[in-house]
Amino acid sequence: MVLFHMDQQIEQLRAEALAALASAGDEAALEAVRVKYLGRTGSISGLSEAMKSLSKEDKPRIGKLLNEARTAVGGAIDARKAALEAERDAKALSGIDLTLPGTPLPVGAIHPITQLLDRAIQIFRQMGFALADGPDIETEWHCFDALNTPPDHPARNEQDTFYLPDGRLLRTQTSTVQVRTMEQFAPPVRIIAPGGVYRRDEVDATHLAQFTQIEGLYVDEGVTLGDLKGTIEYFFRELLGRDVQVRMRPHFFPFTEPSFEIDIKAAALGRGDRWLELAGCGMVDPAVFQEMNRKRGDTAYDPEKYTGFAFGFGLDRLAMILSGVSDIRLFTENDVRFLAQYR
Ligand code: DAH
Repeated sequence: MVLFHMDQQIEQLRAEALAALASAGDEAALEAVRVKYLGRTGSISGLSEAMKSLSKEDKPRIGKLLNEARTAVGGAIDARKAALEAERDAKALSGIDLTLPGTPLPVGAIHPITQLLDRAIQIFRQMGFALADGPDIETEWHCFDALNTPPDHPARNEQDTFYLPDGRLLRTQTSTVQVRTMEQFAPPVRIIAPGGVYRRDEVDATHLAQFTQIEGLYVDEGVTLGDLKGTIEYFFRELLGRDVQVRMRPHFFPFTEPSFEIDIKAAALGRGDRWLELAGCGMVDPAVFQEMNRKRGDTAYDPEKYTGFAFGFGLDRLAMILSGVSDIRLFTENDVRFLAQYR
């Protein structure tokens, strides 16, 4: 009697559950049905509990019926769920023609200055220069004093440099990274330091108040002016081609002695027979080494033992010439129509 009763009960629960599913209109309703029939305290699970009281002969048959009911209800839940999802997708997509082409996003390109910078870094790395970095907001000491540039030097004038209220400034040259490198590392050092620099320039087609420099520093025993010249020549030959000519003109920088300006000539520059004035360089002034020793509190930069060369140049003008840009302001306007041309 109990047996007959259980057969019927299973059949009834199964029919009930399937009917409830057919009318379940969303996922929450589906979940409610699942909990009600298949959940740990659900009615089909309840019957499994009741099976304990069955005789050995009846157990397999009833067990099988229960399993079938469970599988049928579970399968029906999954099917209904898929049907609901399909319905929702169909609704969302109705009226949309998926065969139409999409709307392309405007794609930019690597900025011409970054392209030049990447190439420059690559060439210097071939010569064993490591990449160094420093902050754009600097102390006066790193930008000037440590570089043998006295307080009455015109570069320190308020009209030439951006000062912050706390006395710090936006670096006017990447030479600050020479100082930071020597503070941290004893010789030998061989680094390049690319980055942004800032000056109070009137902005026009050939000037910005912010531009990009790359700095180099090599300090070791026996570094000579010949090494400096060789390094510069190799760099520009790699960058611009075999026909490059390099000229060094005596000049003055507070932190190098002797100092030079570097001019170059190359067909790639498209300027005919004209020299392009490009970089500053020289042999690190012993006064800079002495100031480094004072700051470090040691004699790591013994000027009797070590010599070094340093150089620095702006990348913007070179990038303008190489990429055919006649107005430097285009470099900072972030106009995708401009940038997309450098893909
Ligand atoms: N910092 C200089 C400038 O902005 C360029 C320069 C000259 C850098 C000589 C150097 C150097 O490292 O030795 O004009």
